Amino acid sequence: MSIHRTHIPNSLNEHWMPFSANRDFKKNPRLITGARGVYLTTHEGNTLIDASSGLFCNPLGHGREEIIQAVSKQLRELDYTLPFNQGFGGSFQLATRIAKHTPENLNKIFYTICGSTAVESAIKIAMAYHAAKGDKKRFRFVGRDRGYHGMNIGGLSVGGFNNYKEMCANILMPGVQHMRHTFLPEHKFVKGQPDTGAELADDLEMIANKYQGEIAACLVEPIAGSTGTLVPPKGYLDRLKKICDKHGILLIYDEVITGWGRTGSAFAAQEFGVTPDIMTMAKATTNGIVPMGVVAVRDNIYDAIVNSTPEGTIELFHGYTYSGIPIAVAAALAVQDIFEKEDIFNRVKQMSSYFQDGLHSLKDLDCVESIRGYGMMGGIDIRKKDKPGKAGFQVYKSCYDNGVNFKATADALILAPPFICEKKHIDEIFDKLRKGITQYIRG
Ligand SMILES: Cc1ncc(COP(=O)(O)O)c(C=O)c1O
Repeated sequence: MSIHRTHIPNSLNEHWMPFSANRDFKKNPRLITGARGVYLTTHEGNTLIDASSGLFCNPLGHGREEIIQAVSKQLRELDYTLPFNQGFGGSFQLATRIAKHTPENLNKIFYTICGSTAVESAIKIAMAYHAAKGDKKRFRFVGRDRGYHGMNIGGLSVGGFNNYKEMCANILMPGVQHMRHTFLPEHKFVKGQPDTGAELADDLEMIANKYQGEIAACLVEPIAGSTGTLVPPKGYLDRLKKICDKHGILLIYDEVITGWGRTGSAFAAQEFGVTPDIMTMAKATTNGIVPMGVVAVRDNIYDAIVNSTPEGTIELFHGYTYSGIPIAVAAALAVQDIFEKEDIFNRVKQMSSYFQDGLHSLKDLDCVESIRGYGMMGGIDIRKKDKPGKAGFQVYKSCYDNGVNFKATADALILAPPFICEKKHIDEIFDKLRKGITQYIRG
C-alpha cells in the first residue's frame, strides 16, 4: 500500500510511544487526524470504524457536542481549583449522580486520575479500612492470572500479566497471591457466561486458609477485559464473595472496562448480581475525553476510616493534584446526562445479542482459535506464530488497512464498539474484520 505522507510531523523520533512497537510504527506510522461518531479518519484520508471505543473509553462516540460544550463552559468559568480541603460544587453533584448508579451502599466516591490510580487508591483504602478496625496484620492482596489493573506498582503486582512484571520483579508489592484465571478449554466458543468453572473461586479459599487473617482484599475484574474478555463462569463471583465474607476479606471489583454500561447494566456488579465492597471505574466516566478515575466505596468502609481519626485532621493521606478537576467533572456530568437521555444501558442490552452473533460469525476463519464475549465486549484469539503477539499485531495491522480499528493484546483481538452503534455499524465492523483477517491468512 502506498503511504501518502500528509499530516505527518517532521520528526517522529522524540515521542516515545507507550505500549507500542516504536520502531515499526515510525517506519510506517498510523496517525489519526479526526473522529466523529463511530468513525476515525487517518492521515492518509481513510475512514476507520472504531470497534474498540478507543481504549474502551468512548462508548458515546466521538465529537459529542454536549460534552464539548460542557467542558468549554467549565474552562471559561473555573479551569482549576485545588482539591484538598476545598472544592467546587460540581464534584459533589457528580458524586451524588455516580452513587445513584452504584449498587447497594457503595455511596462514597473518591476521585483519581485514571484507572491505574483508581486501583492504587482502592488498595490503600482497603489497607486503611483494616487499620481503622485495628487489624494491622492484613497486608496481602489476592489477584488473578490474566487480570489487568493498570501500570502502577500496586496494580501491576496484583495484576496477572507476568511479562509486564518482569522488569519490576524486585520492586513489586510483597505478599501478593494469585488465583488461576477462569478460562477453561471448554470455554473456547461459548457465548456469554460459561456453565463450568465456578469452583475456580475456591483458589481463594485455599489462599485464605494458608494466610489466615492476613489478606486485606481480593481484586478482580468481573470480566477480565485486557486479556481478551474472559467472562466469569456462572456462580463464580457469588462463590468468591462468600469466601471473602467468610474470611473478612474485602472484595474489590476493577470495573474500569465493565463500568458504565459495557455489560448492559450500569456495572457488572448489577449484571451478575454480586456486589463488591469497593469498585473502581475510569474510561467511560468522561467518555474518555478527560482523564478521570473513580473509586466507589461502601458507606461502612468510609465511616470506619473517617471516624478513626480526631475531627479536624486528615483521615486518609491520599489524593492527587488532578483528583476530580473541574473539566473532568464537567465532562462526566455531561456523560451522565447522555446516559439518561439516551437510555444508554438499555440500548446496550438490546444490541448485545446482535453484537455477540456477529462476533461468533467469525468462528469459521482458519486462524481463529477462540471467541468469547458478553454485552458489548468480545475477544478473539488468533493462532500464535513463532513469537507471542506477532500474529495479533499482524492481524491488527491488516484490519486497520481494511478500515476497522481496535486494540490487540498479544494474540487477542479486543472488541468493544461504541454503544451508539446501530446494526449497520456492527455489520460493518464484522465485514471489515473478516476482510482483514482473511487478508492476513492469505499472507
Ligand atoms: C481493568 C483495568 N484496570 C485498570 C486499568 C488502567 O487504566 P489506565 O490506563 O487509565 O491507568 C485498565 C486499563 O485498560 C483496565 O482495563
